[in-house]
Amino acid sequence: MDSELKSFIEGLPKVELHLHIEGSLEPELMFKIAERNNLALEYDSVESLKKAYKFNNLQEFLDIYYKGAQVLIHEIDFFDLTWAYLEKVHTQKVHHVEVFFDPQTHTERGIHFNTVIKGIYEALKKGERDLGISFKLIMCFLRHLSEEDAFKTLEQAKEYKSLIYGIGLDSSELGNPPSKFKNVFKEASNQGYVCVAHAGEEGPAEYVWDALNTLNIARIDHGNRSLDDLSLTQHLIKEQIGLTICPLSNLELCVVTELKNHPLKNMLDKGLLATINSDDPAYFGGYMNENYLAISKALELNKMDIIQLAKNGINASFLDYDEKQKLHKILTDYIKLSTV
Ligand code: ADE
Ligand code: ZN
Repeated sequence: MDSELKSFIEGLPKVELHLHIEGSLEPELMFKIAERNNLALEYDSVESLKKAYKFNNLQEFLDIYYKGAQVLIHEIDFFDLTWAYLEKVHTQKVHHVEVFFDPQTHTERGIHFNTVIKGIYEALKKGERDLGISFKLIMCFLRHLSEEDAFKTLEQAKEYKSLIYGIGLDSSELGNPPSKFKNVFKEASNQGYVCVAHAGEEGPAEYVWDALNTLNIARIDHGNRSLDDLSLTQHLIKEQIGLTICPLSNLELCVVTELKNHPLKNMLDKGLLATINSDDPAYFGGYMNENYLAISKALELNKMDIIQLAKNGINASFLDYDEKQKLHKILTDYIKLSTV
């Protein structure tokens, strides 16, 4: 890739719509938090931990990711985690973030819901104030657990309803189709949450249909397998349903064998509302810029493709009309000033 296109991507105003806050826990911070909480890690150094980050599939990653999250005990741990992410993406020109958190990963270990959400939320508020990054917080249910457990989590969220914008569904996809959670998503919709779900990452295109038809979702997380089904593809295009694509995650979890085979360019050319995101940046080798750069290089994306991806990010977000217009203006001004 030529260096001008690289700098264009680095300076591009961006929106991140698929980010698990627990997946932004960098090894260095994990060690620091473990030490202050008097916890021993299975690895004796940051380097040996990083060496373990080699995954053949989603489950191998999740096993390590849930272990890593065990160092998070106090409100300040959740605050520091979130703040580190915001400081990082601020340097990458991210203006708006829609952040997932997995309360069950923590409440299962005896950490209070309040501890988790307060630490994350306070950091997000500080990010809005001091860095100008707007946000929406999305609470995910772990799909390897029961629907009953998800109902309990929804109940715990009740007193924090004003802090949580949406509900999501993540963790082990195969064998846990969206319809397993149809009742709890119905209840969440009734309570006024906007709903999203991971679907078609490792699971088939039918899981994407299932999420659309049974969970009333407003956006699909990943959705890589959507192109396998022509009528699904047509539906996603017609309704302009956002797909939060995560290139480096897809590579690291072997959802694609190499980035050159990634369906993103095909999705863009067909008119799907595909966006670029980082998923779990501390585990997959990069944040927003690294994802944009890697996929642009592998698929030889041109400037128009890259601009389309940035526009799609704004359009697929849950910002209101005026907020979207503001970001489109920032993007247009940036494009006008750029000389590439
Ligand atoms: N939790 C964190 N990252 C995830 C992913 N890529 N898929 C499903 N669940 C996740
Ligand atoms: Zn994800």
